[in-house]
Amino acid sequence: MASRPVPDHVPPELIHNIGLIESPEFLAAPHDFMAALHDRCPPIFWSTGTQSAGWNLIKHEDAFFMLRSAEYFTNKGGTPFPRDPANPFRLLPVEADPPEHRQFRNVLDPMLSPQGILRLEHTIRKLANDLIDEVEAKGECQFDEAFGRPLPVSIFLDLMGLPQDMRDTFVEWAVDLLHATDPAVAGRAYWAICGYLEGAIEDKRKRPDDGAMSRIINGQIDGEPMSAQDVFGFTVFLFIAGLDTVFATLNNMWLWLAQNPAKRREIIARPDDIMAINEELLRRFAVTFSGRTLLKDIEMRGVRMKAGDKVMSILPACNFDPEVFPNPLSVDFDRKRKPILSFAGGVHSCMGAHLARLEIRIGLQEWLRRIPDFELKPGFTAEFRPGGVVGPEHLPLVW
Ligand code: HEM
Repeated sequence: MASRPVPDHVPPELIHNIGLIESPEFLAAPHDFMAALHDRCPPIFWSTGTQSAGWNLIKHEDAFFMLRSAEYFTNKGGTPFPRDPANPFRLLPVEADPPEHRQFRNVLDPMLSPQGILRLEHTIRKLANDLIDEVEAKGECQFDEAFGRPLPVSIFLDLMGLPQDMRDTFVEWAVDLLHATDPAVAGRAYWAICGYLEGAIEDKRKRPDDGAMSRIINGQIDGEPMSAQDVFGFTVFLFIAGLDTVFATLNNMWLWLAQNPAKRREIIARPDDIMAINEELLRRFAVTFSGRTLLKDIEMRGVRMKAGDKVMSILPACNFDPEVFPNPLSVDFDRKRKPILSFAGGVHSCMGAHLARLEIRIGLQEWLRRIPDFELKPGFTAEFRPGGVVGPEHLPLVW
């Protein structure tokens, strides 16, 4: 894929081909790479990479401005997934702008609120323990296959009201969709997911329950039932949004835990501080980005951007803004609390953030309770996957 041409209004000194997402330097150590952007690049620059062409923001303050200024920055058509031209659905709520966007959020926000997800706590804890039961006595596992992938997939199935016996099939689809290097394989997985969910929606229409799918199906927009296309786009997006992000976050954290025994012991010794610990780890291991398109011309930090320009906040880099988080790469559980950008912010801030925090917190608690000492399999070097969600592909652990 060729880079998009750089528009005339971009000054040459602001053009940087940083190789985000795809360069060997990025893939060797993505979080170090993103922290170093603060030394290598101006706060706002134009990236010419194939994946991230457009304006890039790396300051905490600038990213929050972008995320909170929906009147300037639209999310319409913002995601890179294929669509069937015969059924050009929107992925919801992410591709809707305010004020319509709020109505989609209202459908599921109560279920995903801190109170709403508490009903999943017991299920998540039991599941985490069931998964650990399967590997504990073996003294080793592929963490990604044994825990990182099945945990969020199973919880997704419970949340939606879908059968647990679909877990392995969903895991397979998720892996192919999000990581196959052959676009034909990814395409097949995408259509398999779409096909399955279409059938499941029909089924829920006949047999509603209290899961997320039934809530979406019964959702009202402007006092009218949500259209079949929007029900579908909402359901598909939940699948895409919730699986790989939690997976990558868990893999990043466990890679670091395996390499930092003293920090592991500190976490175990401070059970009452688990919320702050979770938040600091989420800051340190943010996995994704927020992209928008400018609706109107704007000037930020003296940089003139034009309507139609693509703008992307590199959220992990914003979590490493040294003005906000001094010594940003160090993991410090006593850091002064500041808002982190791992789940973005503003109207599109992650709907699953409370659920993700709960899954990760319970994962940390149960794993460290049962397998407090572990390390990377000797000889293993982590390889990070190219793409919009940053994390190591595989993680063999021994204990
Ligand atoms: C650690 C795990 C997760 C991370 C890092 C993450 C990150 C994000 C980010 C950065 C956005 C904003 C995208 C944008 O600005 O364009 C977002 C939106 C969203 N996320 Fe998550 N997410 C995670 C887990 C989840 C889970 C578990 C779910 C589902 C249950 C979920 C559902 C959503 C939805 C529906 C949106 C769109 C919100 C909107 O457009 O209003 N996410 N997520």
